[in-house]
Amino acid sequence: MAQNNHYLCKLSELADPSSKSFEIKIGRKKTDIFIIRKEDEVYAYQNICPHAQAPLEWNPDEFLDEQKENIICAMHGAKFNIHNGNCISGPCGGAALTRVAVEIVDGEVFYT
Ligand code: FES
Repeated sequence: MAQNNHYLCKLSELADPSSKSFEIKIGRKKTDIFIIRKEDEVYAYQNICPHAQAPLEWNPDEFLDEQKENIICAMHGAKFNIHNGNCISGPCGGAALTRVAVEIVDGEVFYT
């Protein structure tokens, strides 16, 4: 594990599938992010929709659509691929979420 990894949570604290938001520091800047657990993988993105720069969640920690297949923006309904953050429908015009690097080490989730 790299020295500049920062702890977020235990993988076991996240239902499969589910999402959870965090405030982290990237450099000196505080940034709102969310992570998605899907099976035994996690994906993380900055909580900013590329369409109108709004936060994405419907309710606290709710970033997924009803089928829990895609990320969905509460503001205008844009959908994003969980695995790469690419917009797949809605008014985000082929843009993508900004990815945050995360990894699982011994059952714990870290960002770098
Ligand atoms: S702000 Fe997300 S779809 Fe418009």
